[in-house]
Amino acid sequence: MQARSKLLVTHAFPADLTPRLDAAYQVVRWDRTQASWQAGVAGAAAILCTPADRLDAAKIAALPASVRAIGTYSVGYEHIDIAAAAARGIAVVNTPGVLSAATAEFTILLILAAARRASEAERILRAGKWPGWSPAGVMGTQVSGKRLGIFGMGRIGQVLARMAGGLAMTVHYRNRAPLSADQAQGAVWHADDTAFLAQCDFLALCAPANTQTRHWLNEQRLALLPRGAIVVNTSRGSLVDDDALIAALRSGHIAGAGLDVFPHEPDVPAGYLALENVVLTPHIASATRETRLAMGNLVLDGIDAVLAGERPANLVAA
Ligand code: DGY
Repeated sequence: MQARSKLLVTHAFPADLTPRLDAAYQVVRWDRTQASWQAGVAGAAAILCTPADRLDAAKIAALPASVRAIGTYSVGYEHIDIAAAAARGIAVVNTPGVLSAATAEFTILLILAAARRASEAERILRAGKWPGWSPAGVMGTQVSGKRLGIFGMGRIGQVLARMAGGLAMTVHYRNRAPLSADQAQGAVWHADDTAFLAQCDFLALCAPANTQTRHWLNEQRLALLPRGAIVVNTSRGSLVDDDALIAALRSGHIAGAGLDVFPHEPDVPAGYLALENVVLTPHIASATRETRLAMGNLVLDGIDAVLAGERPANLVAA
């Protein structure tokens, strides 16, 4: 029987993945200490990490020569220095595609919850402060018939656009280039931010985190949104200038927000916690049993392929 390759895993992964992990690999779990990292990477063929693990250039440079693959249990890979990995000949694989439906569903949930003030209403009820039905109690904003702007119409954005059609929303999107008619599904492309933002009753951030998107939603762009717009973010916290969004939520220029991601997780900017008109969730947009299993299988397919000397379909390009 062939010896199983050593795989360092940075977290406890869903139990459904254990049989596959244990059958193919000698699995070693990092306990988040430096000593356990050193012992874990020694002789390891691959590392299975998550967006909560930062693999910067220095950390990658210090990996032993045995490491041939890094798999991230996520579609986003901004936490890994891809160029540093390429320089070391280490392949990086991720989980594109399989989480689009779950993430788009959750984006719809945040749109509806922020529009209908669902978190605030539940807090009132749980605190025993519900006086009973009243004509003007906790009034929200209708979603049907409104305009949804999608910043970053990639895989997730396109599924979101389709789902938003089911809510009778019209969809606008901001991408560098227009999509094919098939991919756009009737959504309207905008070549510049000003024209795009003016159309957004709801703005959904679906673009990846990189130097171009960092703090894309800043004070100037927030001011371009119609008064009363609602912002939702299921991509990465770094896309938003939090001070600017908190100020816009306080002033009422932005009526509400639904945020699943934050720049320094698990910390959440205190300004949001103090606001009633924000729905806050702990980075769970892809967290369905089906999706998390599919993500695990896809990232392991990629690691398996690298270790077998093949080119994985989910290789992240340097
Ligand atoms: C991803 O895959 O990048 C998500 O944020 C994790 O669910």
